[in-house]
Amino acid sequence: MTATTAAATQAYDTFIEICRERKTSRAFDPSAPIPKEHFDLILEAARHGPSGANAQPWHYIIVTDPDKKQAVADYFVAEATSRAKLKMKFPTPNYRGLATAPGLIIVVADFRYIKAFPILNDGSDLDAMYKENAQRILLQSVAASTMSAHLAAAALGYGVWWVTAIGQEQAQNALKPLFDVPDDLSVIDIMVFGKPLKAPYKRWKKNLDQIRSWGVYNRDIYMTQEDIDTWIKEERHKVMYRDESKID
Ligand SMILES: Cc1cc2nc3c(=O)[nH]c(=O)nc-3n(C[C@H](O)[C@H](O)[C@H](O)COP(=O)(O)O)c2cc1C
Repeated sequence: MTATTAAATQAYDTFIEICRERKTSRAFDPSAPIPKEHFDLILEAARHGPSGANAQPWHYIIVTDPDKKQAVADYFVAEATSRAKLKMKFPTPNYRGLATAPGLIIVVADFRYIKAFPILNDGSDLDAMYKENAQRILLQSVAASTMSAHLAAAALGYGVWWVTAIGQEQAQNALKPLFDVPDDLSVIDIMVFGKPLKAPYKRWKKNLDQIRSWGVYNRDIYMTQEDIDTWIKEERHKVMYRDESKID
Protein backbone atom coordinates (compact mmCIF):
# COMPACT_ATOMS: atom_id res chain seq x y z
CA MET A 1 0.00 0.00 0.00
CA THR A 2 1.31 3.44 -0.80
CA ALA A 3 1.74 5.74 2.15
CA THR A 4 -0.69 8.64 2.22
CA THR A 5 1.20 11.87 2.17
CA ALA A 6 0.32 14.63 4.60
CA ALA A 7 -0.77 16.77 1.63
CA ALA A 8 -3.13 14.05 0.39
CA THR A 9 -4.60 13.59 3.86
CA GLN A 10 -5.17 17.30 4.12
CA ALA A 11 -6.72 17.46 0.64
CA TYR A 12 -9.01 14.54 1.51
CA ASP A 13 -10.01 16.11 4.83
CA THR A 14 -10.94 19.35 3.09
CA PHE A 15 -12.80 17.48 0.38
CA ILE A 16 -14.78 15.19 2.69
CA GLU A 17 -15.79 18.16 4.81
CA ILE A 18 -17.26 19.79 1.71
CA CYS A 19 -19.11 16.54 0.89
CA ARG A 20 -20.45 16.29 4.43
CA GLU A 21 -21.42 19.93 4.61
CA ARG A 22 -23.18 20.03 1.25
CA LYS A 23 -26.73 20.25 2.47
CA THR A 24 -29.95 21.01 0.71
CA SER A 25 -31.58 24.34 1.53
CA ARG A 26 -34.87 25.35 0.01
CA ALA A 27 -35.07 28.99 1.02
CA PHE A 28 -32.32 31.56 0.58
CA ASP A 29 -31.53 35.06 1.69
CA PRO A 30 -32.40 37.32 -1.27
CA SER A 31 -30.35 40.15 0.24
CA ALA A 32 -27.11 38.16 -0.13
CA PRO A 33 -26.36 38.24 -3.86
CA ILE A 34 -23.85 35.91 -5.48
CA PRO A 35 -20.74 37.70 -6.79
CA LYS A 36 -20.49 37.22 -10.54
CA GLU A 37 -17.14 35.48 -10.26
CA HIS A 38 -18.65 32.82 -8.00
CA PHE A 39 -20.82 31.63 -10.90
CA ASP A 40 -17.63 31.13 -12.89
CA LEU A 41 -15.89 29.35 -10.01
CA ILE A 42 -18.85 27.00 -9.71
CA LEU A 43 -19.14 26.29 -13.41
CA GLU A 44 -15.39 25.85 -13.67
CA ALA A 45 -15.93 22.78 -11.48
CA ALA A 46 -18.80 21.61 -13.73
CA ARG A 47 -16.55 21.99 -16.78
CA HIS A 48 -14.15 19.35 -15.49
CA GLY A 49 -16.81 16.67 -15.01
CA PRO A 50 -16.30 13.24 -16.56
CA SER A 51 -18.65 12.18 -19.36
CA GLY A 52 -19.28 9.20 -21.62
CA ALA A 53 -17.12 9.52 -24.78
CA ASN A 54 -15.97 12.82 -23.24
CA ALA A 55 -19.01 14.30 -24.96
CA GLN A 56 -19.65 16.93 -22.25
CA PRO A 57 -23.34 17.05 -23.21
CA TRP A 58 -24.20 19.90 -20.81
CA HIS A 59 -24.85 23.60 -20.83
CA TYR A 60 -25.55 25.96 -17.92
CA ILE A 61 -27.73 29.07 -18.13
CA ILE A 62 -27.27 31.51 -15.26
CA VAL A 63 -30.62 33.13 -14.56
CA THR A 64 -30.26 36.85 -14.02
CA ASP A 65 -33.82 38.15 -14.46
CA PRO A 66 -35.95 38.10 -11.26
CA ASP A 67 -39.14 37.80 -13.34
CA LYS A 68 -37.82 34.61 -14.88
CA LYS A 69 -36.97 33.21 -11.45
CA GLN A 70 -40.54 34.00 -10.47
CA ALA A 71 -41.82 32.22 -13.59
CA VAL A 72 -39.74 29.12 -12.74
CA ALA A 73 -41.09 29.16 -9.17
CA ASP A 74 -44.66 29.56 -10.48
CA TYR A 75 -44.20 26.57 -12.76
CA PHE A 76 -42.93 24.35 -9.95
CA VAL A 77 -45.60 25.47 -7.49
CA ALA A 78 -48.30 24.72 -10.08
CA GLU A 79 -46.70 21.37 -10.95
CA ALA A 80 -46.49 20.40 -7.27
CA THR A 81 -50.15 21.34 -6.82
CA SER A 82 -51.26 19.24 -9.76
CA ARG A 83 -49.15 16.31 -8.54
CA ALA A 84 -50.79 16.57 -5.12
CA LYS A 85 -54.16 16.27 -6.89
CA LEU A 86 -52.93 13.14 -8.65
CA LYS A 87 -52.41 11.64 -5.18
CA MET A 88 -48.84 10.56 -5.86
CA LYS A 89 -48.26 10.83 -2.12
CA PHE A 90 -44.84 12.33 -2.68
CA PRO A 91 -43.96 14.73 0.13
CA THR A 92 -43.57 17.92 -1.87
CA PRO A 93 -41.37 20.78 -0.71
CA ASN A 94 -42.20 24.46 -0.97
CA TYR A 95 -40.98 25.67 -4.33
CA ARG A 96 -41.58 29.36 -3.65
CA GLY A 97 -37.93 29.66 -2.58
CA LEU A 98 -37.00 29.43 -6.26
CA ALA A 99 -38.30 32.95 -6.87
CA THR A 100 -35.92 34.64 -4.45
CA ALA A 101 -32.88 32.39 -4.74
CA PRO A 102 -29.82 34.52 -5.55
CA GLY A 103 -28.16 31.68 -7.47
CA LEU A 104 -30.26 29.88 -10.07
CA ILE A 105 -28.74 27.95 -12.94
CA ILE A 106 -30.71 26.04 -15.57
CA VAL A 107 -28.98 22.77 -16.43
CA VAL A 108 -29.43 21.86 -20.08
CA ALA A 109 -28.71 18.41 -21.51
CA ASP A 110 -28.01 17.68 -25.14
CA PHE A 111 -29.50 14.25 -25.79
CA ARG A 112 -28.29 14.31 -29.39
CA TYR A 113 -24.99 13.12 -27.97
CA ILE A 114 -26.44 9.67 -27.31
CA LYS A 115 -25.19 8.98 -30.83
CA ALA A 116 -21.67 9.37 -29.43
CA PHE A 117 -22.24 6.21 -27.38
CA PRO A 118 -22.50 2.66 -28.71
CA ILE A 119 -25.83 2.44 -30.55
CA LEU A 120 -26.87 0.72 -33.76
CA ASN A 121 -29.36 3.31 -34.93
CA ASP A 122 -31.24 0.82 -37.13
CA GLY A 123 -34.57 0.85 -35.24
CA SER A 124 -34.15 -2.78 -34.08
CA ASP A 125 -34.95 -4.13 -30.59
CA LEU A 126 -31.26 -4.38 -29.95
CA ASP A 127 -30.92 -0.77 -30.94
CA ALA A 128 -33.65 0.18 -28.44
CA MET A 129 -31.70 -1.59 -25.70
CA TYR A 130 -28.48 0.21 -26.53
CA LYS A 131 -30.32 3.52 -26.84
CA GLU A 132 -31.77 3.11 -23.37
CA ASN A 133 -28.28 2.53 -22.06
CA ALA A 134 -26.97 5.50 -24.04
CA GLN A 135 -29.59 7.71 -22.41
CA ARG A 136 -28.41 6.56 -19.01
CA ILE A 137 -24.82 7.34 -19.94
CA LEU A 138 -25.90 10.80 -20.96
CA LEU A 139 -27.93 11.41 -17.82
CA GLN A 140 -25.11 10.22 -15.60
CA SER A 141 -22.65 12.44 -17.45
CA VAL A 142 -24.73 15.56 -16.88
CA ALA A 143 -25.27 14.56 -13.23
CA ALA A 144 -21.52 14.11 -12.75
CA SER A 145 -20.85 17.63 -14.00
CA THR A 146 -23.74 19.10 -12.02
CA MET A 147 -22.54 17.40 -8.86
CA SER A 148 -19.13 19.04 -9.23
CA ALA A 149 -20.92 22.39 -9.47
CA HIS A 150 -22.90 21.63 -6.31
CA LEU A 151 -19.76 20.71 -4.42
CA ALA A 152 -18.04 23.87 -5.62
CA ALA A 153 -20.98 25.94 -4.39
CA ALA A 154 -20.85 24.11 -1.05
CA ALA A 155 -17.10 24.78 -0.88
CA LEU A 156 -17.88 28.48 -1.27
CA GLY A 157 -20.17 28.20 1.74
CA TYR A 158 -23.54 28.20 -0.03
CA GLY A 159 -26.58 26.09 0.68
CA VAL A 160 -27.57 24.18 -2.46
CA TRP A 161 -30.79 22.83 -3.91
CA TRP A 162 -30.98 20.29 -6.72
CA VAL A 163 -34.33 20.53 -8.47
CA THR A 164 -35.19 18.11 -11.24
CA ALA A 165 -37.28 19.44 -14.06
CA ILE A 166 -40.23 17.20 -13.36
CA GLY A 167 -43.26 17.03 -15.61
CA GLN A 168 -41.07 16.36 -18.61
CA GLU A 169 -42.77 17.43 -21.86
CA GLN A 170 -44.86 19.93 -19.95
CA ALA A 171 -41.80 21.19 -18.08
CA GLN A 172 -39.87 21.56 -21.33
CA ASN A 173 -42.69 23.55 -22.86
CA ALA A 174 -42.93 25.80 -19.84
CA LEU A 175 -39.24 26.37 -19.19
CA LYS A 176 -37.44 26.31 -22.53
CA PRO A 177 -39.03 29.42 -24.05
CA LEU A 178 -38.12 31.43 -20.94
CA PHE A 179 -34.43 30.89 -21.62
CA ASP A 180 -34.51 30.52 -25.40
CA VAL A 181 -33.28 26.93 -25.14
CA PRO A 182 -33.07 25.45 -28.65
CA ASP A 183 -35.73 22.85 -29.48
CA ASP A 184 -33.38 19.89 -29.60
CA LEU A 185 -31.94 20.49 -26.13
CA SER A 186 -33.61 19.65 -22.80
CA VAL A 187 -33.87 21.40 -19.48
CA ILE A 188 -32.96 18.66 -17.08
CA ASP A 189 -32.26 20.22 -13.71
CA ILE A 190 -32.18 23.49 -11.90
CA MET A 191 -29.28 24.24 -9.62
CA VAL A 192 -30.21 26.65 -6.86
CA PHE A 193 -27.89 28.09 -4.26
CA GLY A 194 -27.27 30.97 -1.91
CA LYS A 195 -27.02 31.90 1.73
CA PRO A 196 -29.60 29.72 3.49
CA LEU A 197 -32.40 31.56 5.23
CA LYS A 198 -32.14 29.12 8.14
CA ALA A 199 -29.30 26.85 9.10
CA PRO A 200 -29.52 23.75 6.89
CA TYR A 201 -29.79 20.41 8.65
CA LYS A 202 -28.00 17.18 7.98
CA ARG A 203 -30.29 14.58 6.49
CA TRP A 204 -30.06 10.88 7.20
CA LYS A 205 -27.42 9.07 5.20
CA LYS A 206 -26.99 5.32 4.97
CA ASN A 207 -23.85 4.18 6.75
CA LEU A 208 -20.92 2.57 4.94
CA ASP A 209 -22.00 -0.94 5.88
CA GLN A 210 -25.32 -0.33 4.17
CA ILE A 211 -23.83 0.75 0.87
CA ARG A 212 -20.67 -1.29 0.47
CA SER A 213 -19.77 -4.92 -0.07
CA TRP A 214 -16.36 -6.48 -0.45
CA GLY A 215 -15.99 -8.95 -3.29
CA VAL A 216 -19.61 -9.91 -3.84
CA TYR A 217 -22.93 -8.28 -3.01
CA ASN A 218 -23.66 -8.61 0.69
CA ARG A 219 -27.07 -10.31 0.62
CA ASP A 220 -27.51 -9.75 4.37
CA ILE A 221 -28.36 -6.15 3.61
CA TYR A 222 -30.26 -6.77 0.39
CA MET A 223 -33.65 -5.08 0.43
CA THR A 224 -36.59 -6.78 -1.20
CA GLN A 225 -39.18 -4.75 -3.09
CA GLU A 226 -41.43 -5.20 -0.07
CA ASP A 227 -38.74 -3.73 2.21
CA ILE A 228 -38.44 -0.76 -0.10
CA ASP A 229 -42.20 -0.29 -0.24
CA THR A 230 -42.25 -0.25 3.56
CA TRP A 231 -39.36 2.22 3.63
CA ILE A 232 -41.23 4.52 1.27
CA LYS A 233 -44.34 4.30 3.40
CA GLU A 234 -42.76 4.66 6.81
CA GLU A 235 -39.40 6.37 6.46
CA ARG A 236 -39.20 8.45 3.31
CA HIS A 237 -41.01 11.49 4.66
CA LYS A 238 -38.71 11.55 7.68
CA VAL A 239 -35.44 11.36 5.78
CA MET A 240 -36.51 14.04 3.33
CA TYR A 241 -37.42 16.79 5.74
CA ARG A 242 -35.85 16.02 9.08
CA ASP A 243 -32.47 16.36 10.73
CA GLU A 244 -30.89 12.90 10.95
CA SER A 245 -30.41 13.37 14.69
CA LYS A 246 -34.19 13.73 15.07
CA ILE A 247 -35.15 10.49 13.37
CA ASP A 248 -36.32 7.77 15.75
C1 LIG B 1 -31.26 13.84 -8.96
C2 LIG B 1 -31.82 14.65 -7.83
C3 LIG B 1 -33.07 15.20 -7.96
C4 LIG B 1 -33.62 15.99 -6.95
N1 LIG B 1 -34.81 16.61 -7.18
C5 LIG B 1 -35.31 17.43 -6.24
C6 LIG B 1 -36.49 18.17 -6.53
O1 LIG B 1 -37.04 18.10 -7.63
N2 LIG B 1 -36.98 18.95 -5.55
C7 LIG B 1 -36.36 19.09 -4.35
O2 LIG B 1 -36.86 19.84 -3.51
N3 LIG B 1 -35.23 18.41 -4.05
C8 LIG B 1 -34.68 17.60 -4.98
N4 LIG B 1 -33.50 16.94 -4.73
C9 LIG B 1 -32.81 17.13 -3.42
C10 LIG B 1 -33.00 15.94 -2.52
O3 LIG B 1 -34.29 15.94 -1.95
C11 LIG B 1 -31.91 15.96 -1.43
O4 LIG B 1 -30.65 15.89 -2.03
C12 LIG B 1 -32.08 14.80 -0.47
O5 LIG B 1 -33.24 14.95 0.30
C13 LIG B 1 -30.88 14.63 0.46
O6 LIG B 1 -30.61 15.81 1.20
P1 LIG B 1 -29.19 16.53 1.14
O7 LIG B 1 -29.02 17.09 -0.24
O8 LIG B 1 -29.26 17.61 2.19
O9 LIG B 1 -28.15 15.51 1.44
C14 LIG B 1 -32.90 16.17 -5.73
C15 LIG B 1 -31.65 15.60 -5.60
C16 LIG B 1 -31.09 14.86 -6.64
C17 LIG B 1 -29.70 14.32 -6.52
